[in-house]
Amino acid sequence: MAINTIARGSGARPPSAPGGCCAQLVKFLWSWMGVMFNYALHPSNFYREFCTRPQTFKAPNRSGEVAVLTGGTKGIGLEVLKKLLESKFHVIIGCRSLIAGEEVMTSIRNGGITTGSCKVFELDLKSLKSVRRFAENVLREAPRIDLLINNAGVMFAPYEITEDLCESQFQVNYLSHFVLTNLLLPRMKETSRRSDKHVACRIVNVASDANYGGHIDFDNLEQCKVYVSNKAYSDSKLCQILHAYYLDSLLRSEDIKVNVLSLHPGVIVSDLWNNMPSVVVAIVNMFKWMLRTTEDGAKTVIYTALSPKLEGVGGVYINSCEIVQPVSQVSDISIQKRLWDKSLELGKI
Ligand SMILES: NC(=O)c1ccc[n+]([C@@H]2O[C@H](COP(=O)([O-])OP(=O)(O)OC[C@H]3O[C@@H](n4cnc5c(N)ncnc54)[C@H](OP(=O)(O)O)[C@@H]3O)[C@@H](O)[C@H]2O)c1
Repeated sequence: MAINTIARGSGARPPSAPGGCCAQLVKFLWSWMGVMFNYALHPSNFYREFCTRPQTFKAPNRSGEVAVLTGGTKGIGLEVLKKLLESKFHVIIGCRSLIAGEEVMTSIRNGGITTGSCKVFELDLKSLKSVRRFAENVLREAPRIDLLINNAGVMFAPYEITEDLCESQFQVNYLSHFVLTNLLLPRMKETSRRSDKHVACRIVNVASDANYGGHIDFDNLEQCKVYVSNKAYSDSKLCQILHAYYLDSLLRSEDIKVNVLSLHPGVIVSDLWNNMPSVVVAIVNMFKWMLRTTEDGAKTVIYTALSPKLEGVGGVYINSCEIVQPVSQVSDISIQKRLWDKSLELGKI
């Protein structure tokens, strides 16, 4: 099978997205309408998104504990990193550029946050080889793992098939995080068994309300026979939520104190929007005052990761520090299980 990878900056033209125009239009509309219908059918979700801000939550002291964070160099992840350091965690961040990671740490320290400690390892979520190398480094570095935040992501990326033969948004947002979670899970289980603090370890998937425009079709999952970037993004975020629900139920059935949660951080203007047409970005920027900031986004992530109010709670989806219902497919256990089995196969676990 031909590998359709696009080398960044190589000047190679991206392969054209598969699927006929009609099929693409249907998918495009499905995804946007799903998100819009969510707001139309649940005005409280619209109100929460555009008229409220998540409450500030004083993060507890977690000195001596270890957190792993993907994508901590900018956007929401950067604000999350600052809060984890303020909570005195030893934070391990995975990012594509070690230099960017080191520079971020220097600027955080220069900005006056002196607590906590940080180690940066290279991680490219487009490559399962890189994910495995990152996991090996983490396991060598950390005798315990109390918290894993799967935050890094891409949105509306042009069509690209990775070296692992998956569509890139599916792999970066979902599959690589699935594999990373599996590789770190035994250490988290050990940590939860040894912990005398009576606080469960947590795995947090930073998903999105884009899930309301998602629908898992197993014939069209990892390679997208019909590709529309917004639908692929929605599906990848839906996969993250299904993963959180299923893994939490598995761990609960084994009485293991590791809780798995997912969340929507809010609609936030960040580099994530760089793949949008510039006219859309201009319109979004006009309404920026209605939208949340990266600090607001980080509040929901930190609340989900650390709040004592969520102690023992898992398999839920959180928006603005409240538990809300994602799209109905999430509650279908047969889909959760089928996605789990397919992901084990794709991740070669
Ligand atoms: N912003 C929103 O409106 C919004 C809404 C809902 C959900 N979310 C979710 O929130 C999360 C963070 O988004 P954000 O707004 O903070 O976006 P952002 O500012 O673009 O940050 C994305 C992060 O992901 C990392 N990343 C991207 N591709 C990667 C790869 N192949 N390997 C490793 N790291 C990679 C980036 O690292 P580099 O520095 O190397 O690029 C960056 O640290 C995402 O999962 C996103 O889907 C955001």
